[in-house]
Amino acid sequence: MPNTQFYQRREQLLQSMQANSICLIPAADHVTRSRDTEYTFRQDSYFQYLCGFPEPQAWLVLSNHPNYKKSLSVLFCLDKDPLAEVWQGRRYGPKQAKRQFVIDMAFALDELEEKLLDLLDGHDNLYFAQGHNDEADEMVFSLMQSLREAPKQSMLPPNTLIDVRTILDEMRLIKSPAELDIMRQAAAISIDAHKRAMLFAEDGKNEYHLEAEIHHEFAMQGAKNPAYGTIVGSGDNACILHYTENNQVLKNGDLVLIDAGCELQGYAADITRTFPVSGKFTQAQAQLYQLVLDAQLASFELIKPGNTLKQATDLAVRIITQGLLDLAILQGELDDNIRRQTYRQFFMHGLGHWLGLDVHDVGIYKIDGQERPLQPGMVLTIEPGIYIAPDATVAEKWQGIGIRIEDNLHVTETGYENLTQACPKTIAEIEDLMQSTNQTNCES
Ligand code: GLY
Ligand code: MN
Ligand code: MN
Repeated sequence: MPNTQFYQRREQLLQSMQANSICLIPAADHVTRSRDTEYTFRQDSYFQYLCGFPEPQAWLVLSNHPNYKKSLSVLFCLDKDPLAEVWQGRRYGPKQAKRQFVIDMAFALDELEEKLLDLLDGHDNLYFAQGHNDEADEMVFSLMQSLREAPKQSMLPPNTLIDVRTILDEMRLIKSPAELDIMRQAAAISIDAHKRAMLFAEDGKNEYHLEAEIHHEFAMQGAKNPAYGTIVGSGDNACILHYTENNQVLKNGDLVLIDAGCELQGYAADITRTFPVSGKFTQAQAQLYQLVLDAQLASFELIKPGNTLKQATDLAVRIITQGLLDLAILQGELDDNIRRQTYRQFFMHGLGHWLGLDVHDVGIYKIDGQERPLQPGMVLTIEPGIYIAPDATVAEKWQGIGIRIEDNLHVTETGYENLTQACPKTIAEIEDLMQSTNQTNCES
């Protein structure tokens, strides 16, 4: 992502803020995993969006105070420290960070509180995402308190606190061409990872072996981390929506549901495919699979500017409910079942969500109580599913089948671009791909 893009975003934010305002954006910090070890560091999405500086514990401060000619951007970051860098890793330090990330001023983190007192002084409004980061809340509110309670001579803290997310979430919801390029790449890598898992799957392998294949492909193509916890659910594990144990043995006759996407430059892909361990769907599996696919493909046709995600959801619900009636999994009349939401025993989540720096990306879904129309530049998932619990009161052949199919759609001027189109999805595409390896395996 070029620095000009970060600069433009900061300018857009500054122009959207009321006059004479200051904005504070904290970076993420390390999170302890166990004594002396930490989870893989991931930068805070808002901070990443506005400056791309990759280190923990930093702060970005933006001001449109009339004293500054145009606007002011200030970065606080860990200072250079040879000893700490031997143990914990390299740091840019303020001098190099200012140059590399094209920020107006940069200071060492040690100076944060002292300098913030001065920076806050004289602004009318403070833009901040309160509640987003507990430690940041504590620091900011205690600074504001000290400015109010023990004011240095003539210091005036901002009177009004405004949630900066109202502006930033709307900005993040509409993706720029540069963001779309990264998301296309994240999708392409994730597609290859799903194909790799399909080719690798066989009776006797473990779910975590497929997880390893997926993560291997991500890394080999330059995406070091998954965008979220990879789900590999075989058999009735597929009916657990956020299954992440991924530790059961694959069995011929079962389906396996994989929900996995890589993170690339902070951006997520989010793909789900469901396929048979043996490479061949049973008749019951194929009937339910085709129903989910029909619902997904029909709802794609409603993805265009002016339409709403709710319209697509209603259509998917209608198709799935009618299909469940046709298969005698539900009984009765279509509209009555829809009204009573009987389908929710089997399709209990939403049809999709915004996608971007966060896998469940920011952006409100309703405006003034009305469903929000889709706009060019939005990216969303469309992910219908049917999950029949092992103890559901339905014919035995359906029990324990879980299917989800998830693609990533970019809303264009006239419709949509499916970023994950190339991931095998029809029954024929999946069976052809998987049987191509079965043949290779038999011949070798
Ligand atoms: N992988 C999370 C989701 O599909 O929403
Ligand atoms: Mn997913
Ligand atoms: Mn999703």
